[in-house]
Amino acid sequence: MKAVVCTRYGPPEVLRLDERATPVARKNEVRIRILATAVTSSDCYVRGLDLSLAYQLMARLAIGWNAPRQPVLGMVLSGVVDSVGPGATSFEVGERVFGFDRHRFGTYAQYVCWPGDGLLATRPANLTDAEAAAIPYGGLLALHFLRKADVRAGQRVLIYGASGAVGTSAVQLARHFGAEVTAVCSAANLDLVASLGATTVIDYTVEDFAGRAERYDRILDAVGKRKSAAALRRCRQVLAPGGACVSVDDGRPKLRREDLVLLSELATKGEIRPVIDRTYALDDLPEAHRYVDNGHKRGNVVVAVT
Ligand SMILES: NC(=O)c1ccc[n+]([C@@H]2O[C@H](COP(=O)([O-])OP(=O)(O)OC[C@H]3O[C@@H](n4cnc5c(N)ncnc54)[C@H](OP(=O)(O)O)[C@@H]3O)[C@@H](O)[C@H]2O)c1
Repeated sequence: MKAVVCTRYGPPEVLRLDERATPVARKNEVRIRILATAVTSSDCYVRGLDLSLAYQLMARLAIGWNAPRQPVLGMVLSGVVDSVGPGATSFEVGERVFGFDRHRFGTYAQYVCWPGDGLLATRPANLTDAEAAAIPYGGLLALHFLRKADVRAGQRVLIYGASGAVGTSAVQLARHFGAEVTAVCSAANLDLVASLGATTVIDYTVEDFAGRAERYDRILDAVGKRKSAAALRRCRQVLAPGGACVSVDDGRPKLRREDLVLLSELATKGEIRPVIDRTYALDDLPEAHRYVDNGHKRGNVVVAVT
């Protein structure tokens, strides 16, 4: 099969197209023929290991000291179950699935074997594979952090970094939970986040949200503390009494299969929609990583796997 491999940590150029043996589904695994994947900000962290020394050491211990033990990166997929290993009962051959696995990787390829009971669900039938691949990463992370922040109907919620993968999902899901959403992003993305359900939009390049008179019950930082630290320090000024601020960098998120099923249902009903910035081919992955490394993608960058 065709796969893109990463044989050392470094810039996007470390990724290269290769031929690898097609994996065989073992006990409790399903093999998926991948039709689309996504390049996420997490993929770029894994490839580049551009982290603080402490995090870098932890990452090297977890995923490989000099290079990723699993050289085929990629955590997101949309595709078709094409064989089922012994004991895997959740899916049958031919089922269309989508999913996310931040431990196994392997989706920058034509086939991958994942646990049948992992973060996999039937993909929304109304979406293309590229669209389905734009849902799990941002959707699952946003659901986790909105729950952590205890976002509820009637609350005034500010999403800082509303135009990225997590941000575009968070705006839509907070709206789905009945919150009134204020979205902060740069000028080029204001219309996008308004179309996703934000009632107020703020361009952070010209205005500091903390300078407004409005108060918020919940603030979700969907940018990441490396860039949002200064903004987070100002959050307290605009929190309503009893309010709380949560960052996407607070702790290790718990990602649940039932949440992927929920995202599939919401997408099927049109209550959330995928946001795709660019689509690349598998052999253009270095270019896709270069783009995601910039930290300004609109929603998701997907990869069509043929
Ligand atoms: N806790 C965990 O385990 C975990 C897991 C995955 C991800 N994360 C965190 O989640 C973050 C977001 O991931 P993502 O995939 O959604 O990223 P992304 O798609 O690259 O989106 C980044 C967002 O940040 C905004 N942004 C960039 N620079 C900014 C700045 N200086 N000030 C304000 N906003 C800025 C961008 O908006 P504009 O383009 O409009 O400027 C964009 O909306 C990651 O960076 C990471 O820190 C945490």
